[in-house]
Amino acid sequence: MKVIVKDINLLEEKCDLLVVPVASLDTSFGTAVQQLDKAMKGHIKLAIESKELKDKKFSEYTLHTLGNIKAKKLHFVGLGKIEDVTLNDIRDAAGNVIRTARALGAKTVSWIDCSGLFAHLDSALIGTALSEGAVLGHYQFLTYKSEPSKEAVDVLALHAQKDGVERGVVLGEATNFSRDLSNQPGNVLFPKSYVDIALKTFKGTSVDVEVIDQKKAEKLGMGGLVGVGKGSINPPYMLVLTYKGAAGDPVALVGKGVTFDSGGISIKPSLGMSGMKADMGGSAAVMGTFQALDRLKPKAHVLGVIPLAENMPSSVAQKPGDVITAMNGKTIEVINTDAEGRLILADALCYAVSKKAKAIVDIATLTGAATVSMGNESAALLGNNDALIKGFLNRCAISGEQLWQLPLFDSFLEYLKSDIADLMNAVENKGGGTSTAAKFLEQFVNKTPWAHIDMAPMMQTKKTCGVLVKGMSGYGVRTLTHYIESIS
Ligand code: BES
Ligand code: ZN
Ligand code: ZN
Repeated sequence: MKVIVKDINLLEEKCDLLVVPVASLDTSFGTAVQQLDKAMKGHIKLAIESKELKDKKFSEYTLHTLGNIKAKKLHFVGLGKIEDVTLNDIRDAAGNVIRTARALGAKTVSWIDCSGLFAHLDSALIGTALSEGAVLGHYQFLTYKSEPSKEAVDVLALHAQKDGVERGVVLGEATNFSRDLSNQPGNVLFPKSYVDIALKTFKGTSVDVEVIDQKKAEKLGMGGLVGVGKGSINPPYMLVLTYKGAAGDPVALVGKGVTFDSGGISIKPSLGMSGMKADMGGSAAVMGTFQALDRLKPKAHVLGVIPLAENMPSSVAQKPGDVITAMNGKTIEVINTDAEGRLILADALCYAVSKKAKAIVDIATLTGAATVSMGNESAALLGNNDALIKGFLNRCAISGEQLWQLPLFDSFLEYLKSDIADLMNAVENKGGGTSTAAKFLEQFVNKTPWAHIDMAPMMQTKKTCGVLVKGMSGYGVRTLTHYIESIS
């Protein structure tokens, strides 16, 4: 779908579907609606009076125009009371409408200017919300359908602020790239093929790609990454991305990249295990963010660190009770091989510290406990720096990707004490699983300001609605991109 910006004349616009947002119909019969109603010989007023056309949030109503105006159909989308309308509402409405348009077979969709109707919102941000919402809502993963549906909207025309619209397209497409990665099955996306995708994606862009293979990882002392990857025929890698839009020390984005998490020797139950192909969702958020950075060109120096491994059981896999040594020399007793994310992240965090990162943000599908706390409504946010945490809570309010803080009490470190090593990787039967996992990670950031996003609850979208499309979510790209922009 191509998104273009143009002036849209209500009566003259030639398209399959002309989209008209409606709000506060009880108090204001907006000028656009009035003008259209006149051309439509009172049909719109009739539809409102007969309560077929409503301003109820996300309600939709389609009307054939019978040649009264140039557009073939009029499509109304309700947004509630004008003063209550948020950018999130506009984004979700755009997501819903674009799918309705596709289902109606509309190839050309035009969305009238609505900056006057929502004068309390910034017009550039309205443009971003419209294009971002439509690009996200239009997403489909059809790679493995032998007869994929050909239905698609070809052109979406928006009468909105141009820079805002272009930004929304970048954010939407970067999230869709992340969704594509996470939706790929584990037999296609494994550490080596992931590395190849990164090299291909960022070839000729402003993002540099460095690949640390297993041999080099061993030399660097990355015992966590090597230990987790050991059980699979597909060797682990550490992928390092660099975007240098400014001088100075980098900010590091670290993403868990377990391309399949069987649990290893501490094997998971089979119910739902197939979803563990997306245990690289954190890494996909980092990849998507770098794609967005390359297109938005913020003035920031950003380092991406992506540990890639497949967690499998085999005769050469690591075992419960094994002791490994992370890159910073700390020893870890592997109590549970299913707590693998923190092992590979430990080395990735150490690597970011070794590159003098001035702040580190990691994102990971780390704990089932986060889903126990949050359902599928929010990712968990933890960290050692209040300013960084506050920054993220502000950013997620803009992106609509929800985050909620959980505690990182010092006393959680007690839970992680091992009898024979510095730390153990899992705590049994004590609760606080998301906090203890984060406390474990904190042992590898060496006082660098650090925030941790446990996105396990948001890895997968169960139901298509608004900007969300059933399947792997692409969560995190937009919040991370907003964060980097905020520090540039
Ligand atoms: N990848 C899982 C966490 C997960 C679960 C992500 C569900 C998305 C959806 C992680 O590696 C894991 O298995 N964690 C264990 C840790 C435990 C063994 C301490 C968990 O949460 O059960
Ligand atoms: Zn696991
Ligand atoms: Zn995992």
